[in-house]
Amino acid sequence: MSTPANRVSTFGTTIFTEINVLAQHYNALNLGQGKPDYDTPPDIIADLVKTLQAGRYNQYAPGPGTSALRQAVADHAARFYGLEIDPAQGVVVTAGATEGIIAAVLGLTDPGDEVILLEPYYDSYQPSVIMANAVPVCVPLHPPTWTIDPDELRRAFSKKTRALILNTPHNPTGRVFTREELTLIAELCIEHDVTVIVDEVYEHLLYDDAIHIPIASLPGMFERTVTISSAGKLFSATGWKIGWVYGHPDLVEGVARAHQFITFAVHHPTQETVAHALNLPDSYYEGFKAMYTRKRDILLSALSKGGLPCLTPQGTYFVLADFTKVFQGSPLEFTHYLIKEIGVACIPPGTLYTPEHVHIGSNYVRFAFCKSDEMLQQVEQRLQKLKSLA
Ligand SMILES: Cc1ncc(COP(=O)(O)O)c(C=O)c1O
Repeated sequence: MSTPANRVSTFGTTIFTEINVLAQHYNALNLGQGKPDYDTPPDIIADLVKTLQAGRYNQYAPGPGTSALRQAVADHAARFYGLEIDPAQGVVVTAGATEGIIAAVLGLTDPGDEVILLEPYYDSYQPSVIMANAVPVCVPLHPPTWTIDPDELRRAFSKKTRALILNTPHNPTGRVFTREELTLIAELCIEHDVTVIVDEVYEHLLYDDAIHIPIASLPGMFERTVTISSAGKLFSATGWKIGWVYGHPDLVEGVARAHQFITFAVHHPTQETVAHALNLPDSYYEGFKAMYTRKRDILLSALSKGGLPCLTPQGTYFVLADFTKVFQGSPLEFTHYLIKEIGVACIPPGTLYTPEHVHIGSNYVRFAFCKSDEMLQQVEQRLQKLKSLA
């Protein structure tokens, strides 16, 4: 009998599916998956409808992306970070950041190369490395501050290291890497001639005085970094799956070669609308940040009332909360308890680690706050029960 390939033999069904089913069954308020429960802004949807009806955008787009979106990605990098990107040779449009990540790994590493990952990670990084026949080398972020141990990071580099995948602002910890941390990573990558694949999908989800610094902007890094982002979070349009990769043309060329045989080209009309949306005035970006600051604060208050301490997120729409004051058991057991007894769903972080490091996250579960204010307020009420049951 035919069987699946060894390459995919370690890939299970994602935890998100399991939690969604359980949350639905128990009618729990679902703060599991990072999927907004509100719609894309109406003006952006109206632009897409207009584009669909224009009759010019319903056939294949150019493989690397439409010229309007590539220009908008370059303009956005110049506007927010002062980066100079060549829209013709330095940008490729992908089916979300997720395709950008695997296209970058396939296009920039060879079989047997080592790729450093920081844990906990977005769950596609490790399978992307494995599908490229490269070898993941994992370095944990340590709680409760979720910071790297510089010696551990240094020891992870070897003659075989070809790339490092970085994510800032970081899912699931909510951390925004500081200039010092980025400088350490940059120095090690320069010393060992390593390419950085950086996932910045939460680049505009920043709180208080947090500043997002693209690692590509550090001295000596532009020529060894590809930067990945997407429209999903920024425009509350995770279903659109429009992402992009930008950087030095020599690196982007590798990504584009892989991309042309993964999807070739992605949804054409949506690219035009995302180009329009990226060019929205600063007021859009400011309103977006203010909306999420409000949501973060409601959830922080809920967690505090529930006896679940956490590091205040500086970015993203996630928080890792420590449940050990109110529950004895594993993150998965706590998640089941929270869904069934309290009516709130979260994600145990086990699948965001390699087995040897899973114990590092064993006091924590992840909550996503990309949910309506009303739902977050109900969560606040329900979590109050936790303390009294403990
Ligand atoms: C760190 C990170 N990267 C990438 C993605 C996925 O982005 P996209 O939907 O554009 O593929 C997510 C979604 O949760 C994420 O958290």
